[in-house]
Amino acid sequence: MKEEIIAFAADHGGFELKNILLEHAKSKGFNILDLGTNSKDSVDYPDYAKKMADAIEDSKANIGVLVCGTGIGISISANRYSHIRAALVHDAFGARLSRQHNNANVIVFGGRTTGDEVAKDCLDVFLSTEFEGGRHQRRVSKMS
Ligand code: RB5
Repeated sequence: MKEEIIAFAADHGGFELKNILLEHAKSKGFNILDLGTNSKDSVDYPDYAKKMADAIEDSKANIGVLVCGTGIGISISANRYSHIRAALVHDAFGARLSRQHNNANVIVFGGRTTGDEVAKDCLDVFLSTEFEGGRHQRRVSKMS
């Protein structure tokens, strides 16, 4: 098992991709925390962004994966919490730079906009890329 605990949360527009990514991470040996939702019943994405923010604040997870229909609503919601740096990602380049430059601790996808294989690739890159620090630390520090 790897040391990181990855939390996953999604609304009804993202739970299918959330579960695909959860299984993918589990198959790679990561510890998983599933914060729901797990059905097509309509829910409100800010509630799932809060579950993620709470899980990271309480050290139940170090890294998060959020999914809603577009990824937009849940990333806006997550970024309301000062300890969350949530990056809505559409390709591996963005996934890499979100770690190297932004020290993102949450990666966000649109379940209705990003294909399963692209999302898996982005997640792999996100999980294997380190923050570069240096001038990027100064910029990240200015966020708060
Ligand atoms: C839910 O229908 C949808 O609005 C939500 O999943 C997300 O796309 C919002 O940004």
